[in-house]
Amino acid sequence: MDFQAVLDEIVATLEPELGAGTVASYIPALARVSPRQLGIALRTRAGEEFCAGDAATRFSIQSISKLFSLTLAMRHVGDDLWQRIGREPSGNPFNSLVQLESEQGKPRNPFINAGAIAVADRLVTHCANARADVLTLLSGLCGEAVGFDEEVAASEAATGFRNVALANFMKSFGKIDNDVAAVLDLYFHQCSAAMSCVQLARATGYLCRDGAHPLGGAEVVSERQARRLNALMLTCGTYDAAGEFAFRIGMPCKSGVGGGIVAVVPDTLSLCVWSPGLDETGNSLLGMKALELFVARTGLSVF
Ligand code: DON
Repeated sequence: MDFQAVLDEIVATLEPELGAGTVASYIPALARVSPRQLGIALRTRAGEEFCAGDAATRFSIQSISKLFSLTLAMRHVGDDLWQRIGREPSGNPFNSLVQLESEQGKPRNPFINAGAIAVADRLVTHCANARADVLTLLSGLCGEAVGFDEEVAASEAATGFRNVALANFMKSFGKIDNDVAAVLDLYFHQCSAAMSCVQLARATGYLCRDGAHPLGGAEVVSERQARRLNALMLTCGTYDAAGEFAFRIGMPCKSGVGGGIVAVVPDTLSLCVWSPGLDETGNSLLGMKALELFVARTGLSVF
């Protein structure tokens, strides 16, 4: 298949719509990003890479980081992780508090904010330096140095009142072991990591290779863990739009409010799209359209 032609055509098709959607502004440092950008990159299981548009521009990966922090936690904590975190779609927005009270502080899944904060708490317990471990994982997976954007991390720390509330609420149920400040410091930093579509398409390669490292093939996670990560992405990776994503796209996806979405066709390829304008569920508007066009042109999905 001529993937380069497919990606070029997707970017050309969406060109007239550049700027659609709303850039996330509740994190002030993100509000300055121009919405008139669109990038797309893919990497095949065999390691061929293709990209189009603004695929080399680094952006704030935000909630896409939850995929990598979960990967680290699966490695360090193993199945005990699931005593603290569920595996069901929430049907609620990513930053919702409502289910936590009736469910005694156990988040529905690791991809809503509450779940990712609970994962961060496990990492603070199990890693000597969790922030460094996140960067080591990201840099190793894409073969290039990845850093945190300290301005974005500070901006979110200054305005992340809901996340502070979520962490304290879970702590009141005895479901957060560490200092809330230390847990949120990790969470805000992981969300601030800056990566490009090319880097993210490469970094998620282990999810289409049964857990094998995209560069070299060492085990990142086991085959069973890779399957589970893909299952969680399909059911929970795009929050209350997960049903719509499965219906329209049919690939495990993980989105972030920076406008990135990573997607996987198991055994075949991993890809990343980025466009900063979001829809009302916090998912990239043009990113979603780009993935829909990709599936329409290639027939590649899990269904
Ligand atoms: O905690 C937050 O609100 C952000 N750091 C991340 C949210 C996010 O990316 C949701 N995804 N669409």
